[in-house]
Amino acid sequence: MNIKNYLTSELEKVFEKLGYDKSYAKVSFSDREDIAHLQCNGAFGVAKSAHTNPMIIADSIVNELSYLNDKFDISVAKPAFINFLIKDEYFARLAHDFADDERVGVDKLDHPGFMVLDFGGANVAKPLHVGHLRSAVIGEALKRLNSFMGNTVVGDVHLGDWGLQMGLTIAELMDDYDMTGYFDSSKPKTKITEEMLEVAYPKASARKKTDEEFASRASDITLWLQNKKSGYYDIWQELREVSVNMVKRTYDRLGVSFDLWNGESSVNELVPAVVKDLKDKGLAYISEGALVVDVENYTNQPMPPAIILKSNGAQMYIITDIATIVDRANKYPKLSRIVYVTDDRQVLHFRQVFGVTRQAKLVDDSVKLEHYGFGTVNGKDGKPFKTRDGGTMKLDDLIDMVTTKAHERLLENSSNENKELAHIIAMSAIKYGDLSNQISRDYIFDEDKFTTFEGKTGPYLQYTAVRIKSLLSKAGFKSNSNVTITLPEERKIVYSVLKLIDSYTTCLNESSLNTLCAELYNVASAYSNFYNNIKILTEKDDEKRNTYLTLSNMVFKALERGLYVLGIEVPEYM
Ligand code: ARG
Repeated sequence: MNIKNYLTSELEKVFEKLGYDKSYAKVSFSDREDIAHLQCNGAFGVAKSAHTNPMIIADSIVNELSYLNDKFDISVAKPAFINFLIKDEYFARLAHDFADDERVGVDKLDHPGFMVLDFGGANVAKPLHVGHLRSAVIGEALKRLNSFMGNTVVGDVHLGDWGLQMGLTIAELMDDYDMTGYFDSSKPKTKITEEMLEVAYPKASARKKTDEEFASRASDITLWLQNKKSGYYDIWQELREVSVNMVKRTYDRLGVSFDLWNGESSVNELVPAVVKDLKDKGLAYISEGALVVDVENYTNQPMPPAIILKSNGAQMYIITDIATIVDRANKYPKLSRIVYVTDDRQVLHFRQVFGVTRQAKLVDDSVKLEHYGFGTVNGKDGKPFKTRDGGTMKLDDLIDMVTTKAHERLLENSSNENKELAHIIAMSAIKYGDLSNQISRDYIFDEDKFTTFEGKTGPYLQYTAVRIKSLLSKAGFKSNSNVTITLPEERKIVYSVLKLIDSYTTCLNESSLNTLCAELYNVASAYSNFYNNIKILTEKDDEKRNTYLTLSNMVFKALERGLYVLGIEVPEYM
């Protein structure tokens, strides 16, 4: 039950009845809990357009709301705020309902959609590095949030497996090893290993800059690969498999998973038809040898043309993405959105992709195309995060580093030697540290801060949940009972849960997670305040004790659910 939306819809009815514009009927949470839990400022807007006194309008609205008196104390405060204070009996009813509800009060969408979520963005032949962290963490959380709210979500890693980097890697492997077995079936095939790949791509990418012959060979190989020329295609298949296993292992450690392991290569067969369509519609034309499409008409701002095919006919990144949109729409007739989570620096790329797709009407206008670009992970010096010697940090090394830190924290707090537990805590440190920021903002990766058990951190939220779990087990808690609310600490808890429930809607609408992070923290700190001020286990009065335990159970479930959405596990103990 989203109390804000509930009150808004009640007010809309009243506004309509009184002949007021119901778009003013919005209710929001108030930041003055002593005066109001919720508030409507709509009387000002109505009065302004009707040239009357807002106080009179506010009074007329409140007069119609007496049927809500069992739930709220409703009053008008000068100059014309309509204030709603939740009554204790209503708080008590809500708390009991939430404690009993699997979804802890979060309603499913009335009209769920079908989305493809394109995240992860791993590349074949390259291990995941710190630059891949945010797409994985944000994408996984958006996937969980959307599914929880009722949307159907198909997560696709969309591997970078078809561009020049493939040609470069194959060329390098062919120079460094005997790869003739892939071209001549009478010879044995050299097995491609992770170690070989770790060297091949960085080496090739450096060589390309100085060795023209090599660069042009790599470019030819890319084209041959795209034409599935045997030998090259066989090397590529094997190196793709080795890479996928490597990348999957790291995603597993992060608790991130995908429904589809498609890639740029998956639409190879579709590209010629899409290109033909773009030509037939008069959109694609040759410029300096390459096939391009202008997108300025769509974007209404200066924008370079989208390069679809290279002059040698090789497919470019843009066309693989465009064809992938067509493919997804073909495969999923109910598709309503495609959501991309990538680095902010790909904004231009996606404008071009969407621009071509829309102009050529390659998919129905009802399919929304959305790109969320995330900011950079910075080090404590405010510059992009690097290893100590200035290199790019592999994601595995980053996970190891934070796990070691989490292990140290555990030893500080208890003397717990459990490696598995350290990993669970490290994940929450990393994920909350990331998701509590607005997606588009850069943030500083501070493993010392992220791993503390106090303050706005993942481990603090886990710790609060674990503490409740142990309290409930010590108390022999079996099931929820009736709740009576009398104390400010109790009110604060239920109120914080009401705001938490609303944050799911906010996050869903914005495709963000930071509000959910903030409200989970508020619930945990409201609970900690309650826990510190009140003797729960030693309470003699059964009714009070039952209330305390039911509230505790509600908070536990709310935290566990919210953390799950963020991709964070609640451990058994800490
Ligand atoms: N592999 C790309 C990169 O590393 C990211 C892929 C993003 N998704 C997409 N559909 N283009 O830059």
